Amino acid sequence: MSLSVCMLAAEVAPLSKTGGLADVAGALAKYLAADGHDVRLFTPLYASIDRTKFPMQPVEGLQQVPLRIGPHQYVYSVVTTRLPGSDALVYLIDCPVLFARPVIYTTDPDEHLRFLAFTRAVLVTCQRMQWAPQILHCNDWHTAFAPLFVKALFEGEALFAHTRSVLTIHNVGYQGIFSAAAAADLDLGSRSYLLHQDDLRAGNINPLRHGILYADAITTVSPTHALEICTDEYGMGLQDSLRMRRSALTGILNGVDYHVWDPRNDRYLPEHYDPSSLSIKAGLKSAFIERLGLTIPVTTPLAGVVSRLASQKGIDLMFESLPQVLEWRDLGFVALGSGDAQYERFLAELAQSFPGRVVFRRGYDDELSHWIEAACDMFLMPSMYEPCGLNQMYSLRYGTVPIVRRTGGLADSVEHYDADSGQGTGIVFDDFNSEALEWALNMALDLYAEPAQWTRMVRNGMAKDFSWERQGGKYVQIYRELSR
Ligand code: ADP
Ligand code: GLC
Repeated sequence: MSLSVCMLAAEVAPLSKTGGLADVAGALAKYLAADGHDVRLFTPLYASIDRTKFPMQPVEGLQQVPLRIGPHQYVYSVVTTRLPGSDALVYLIDCPVLFARPVIYTTDPDEHLRFLAFTRAVLVTCQRMQWAPQILHCNDWHTAFAPLFVKALFEGEALFAHTRSVLTIHNVGYQGIFSAAAAADLDLGSRSYLLHQDDLRAGNINPLRHGILYADAITTVSPTHALEICTDEYGMGLQDSLRMRRSALTGILNGVDYHVWDPRNDRYLPEHYDPSSLSIKAGLKSAFIERLGLTIPVTTPLAGVVSRLASQKGIDLMFESLPQVLEWRDLGFVALGSGDAQYERFLAELAQSFPGRVVFRRGYDDELSHWIEAACDMFLMPSMYEPCGLNQMYSLRYGTVPIVRRTGGLADSVEHYDADSGQGTGIVFDDFNSEALEWALNMALDLYAEPAQWTRMVRNGMAKDFSWERQGGKYVQIYRELSR
């Protein structure tokens, strides 16, 4: 039986994207639509979304809708488009005062209001469309108040009488905390006792915590991370609430959209390859080396990074290890990303210290990220924590050996290569320190020097299947259990 699913996400690829949330929201909606469900994906209409590339229609009855959030008055409209490559409908909440800003996430004082308003607008939109979703699927802190709002602000609304909620935690490190002084923005009135009282006393309101407390089901994006976030080490202060809801918490590894991320059909590549045509990968590497202005021969191993440059990603571990390895061994390195100044500075200085061998491209670039996956031999993800991580799964498909720390989804998707048995898909290290990363890099370079071993590891990885066809059904199962 087909289900009706209202999915809320702060970013949706290919319309808007800063990280994996966008990829997952888009690809899961695509999977659900293909599986025959009535999935409607809601997201803000940011100024950066290209309206010529994604033609949008105004939704009748949903133009210039007044929306009061605490003492603030907004007006929003809804426009719709099809998710590219899918029948799924995307509804975009158009409220320029809130969303027409230079970036998707801001540090503006009304950041919490932007996403409270978005969440409320989605619920009002369902009401106006007279659409009763069986499942309200919210993602991360931005939309985590949805389950509480349905219970407290829409109580008695027959439309939502059978609606059950799912919260997916993509990143427990971002909680959207704002000041308790803004409690009126939640409009809970006499229901304010529903807020987490200890946080309130400490002067805070934590959106992600309220999602954890009130969602009917909670998921995070890998089985290992579901265990991790209940511990003091990884819970980021939410471990108590997560432990309390442990029976409602499941880990589901993200899928990969192989229509977008596969060297057999990658639209950014001039030539395509598969495990039987790895010489084409070598040709792409050669072209890429030239394009980047590197002076290494094609036989030199090339390692890549594509990442938000945040402390989560373990760039700190490269500070000592990477210059060491570059000093002593034959290696080229290319990094793409932006974020914290200290990491940008480190990578820029590394490129200066090793001209012709290291390139750093600061910024966000879809095309370049696909090329790095295709043209590199190795891909580094030494994350401090990684709820799932997508690039290591992309790397496997592209025959680019992932070098990862054993945490979260990295632990669930990359298997350390064992030269004796020929089993395994990458290099996996345990400790979060530079010696461990250095060990892993050296190990990768030693294996690279043994072409038979290397090719075996590459082919093992390329044969792995992390498609949504395998993963998406696990969400449907949760939806069904909830709506039973
Ligand atoms: P996270 O969501 O924590 O950033 P993921 O590995 O789940 O990590 O997903 C990151 C996604 O964002 C991948 O699709 C990756 O290619 C993309 N990405 C990250 N930084 C950049 C960048 N600078 N340019 C292009 N794509 C990027
Ligand atoms: C996050 C996590 C990443 C995950 C992505 C999509 O931002 O950091 O590990 O893959 O969300 O779920």
